[in-house]
Amino acid sequence: MSRFGSDPLSFFNSVYQNIAPWDIGAPQPAMAALVEKCPPSNPILDLGCGSGDLAIYLAKLGHQVVGIDFVESAIKNAQYKAATLPKETAQSLSFHVADALKPPYPQEKFGAIFDSGFYHLFNPDQCEKLIDEVASILKPYGCYYLHEFAIEFPVPNVPRHISIDELQTRFTVEKGWRIKEIQTVEFLSRVAPPVPATCACIERLPV
Ligand SMILES: C[S@@+](CC[C@H](N)C(=O)[O-])C[C@H]1O[C@@H](n2cnc3c(N)ncnc32)[C@H](O)[C@@H]1O
Repeated sequence: MSRFGSDPLSFFNSVYQNIAPWDIGAPQPAMAALVEKCPPSNPILDLGCGSGDLAIYLAKLGHQVVGIDFVESAIKNAQYKAATLPKETAQSLSFHVADALKPPYPQEKFGAIFDSGFYHLFNPDQCEKLIDEVASILKPYGCYYLHEFAIEFPVPNVPRHISIDELQTRFTVEKGWRIKEIQTVEFLSRVAPPVPATCACIERLPV
């Protein structure tokens, strides 16, 4: 069962009827700092891209980026923002409605996969499947960038606490991963003070 009820799409559709709490009009600062520290390779896939600010930020840095989200209105908003960009930047960016738990690009390999507040939406068993999907579409030495809540709220329909320990246990050298960066940072929102977050850049080793 999902953390967001029997129909997570309906839940997220309803959140996007207003400006979503995580929609801060820019990438999460900790994610931007991670990008500076560990520059990503192309092409990039942004899982659960929302209204597109992180993907747009990456495209402005010169990257080729595909953003996917299952909420149509979020993708329309992202496409609208992309249309206002200079032609060269807009051309390196695309947004699609898709279920990011079943990446729609099994034949394509990415140099980097971004996950800003996506992994923490899922229970541990679903995260295992997500990691398998990510592994199957990352190029050797490509990196998985994560930025997730490191706090648990005792209410329904909120993300899960993702600890440094959890990521260190799931992403081991034996399983074909190397953690390049991992730290405790903050997750910003429009509606509440920042909360603790875990941020990581994890390299896929050739298997
Ligand atoms: C916490 S928000 C983060 C949005 C964006 N990455 C950001 O940093 O602003 C999580 C996003 O994941 C999307 N999402 C949740 N489950 C999804 C799924 N199975 N496939 C695609 N998108 C999904 C939601 O619609 C929402 O936009």
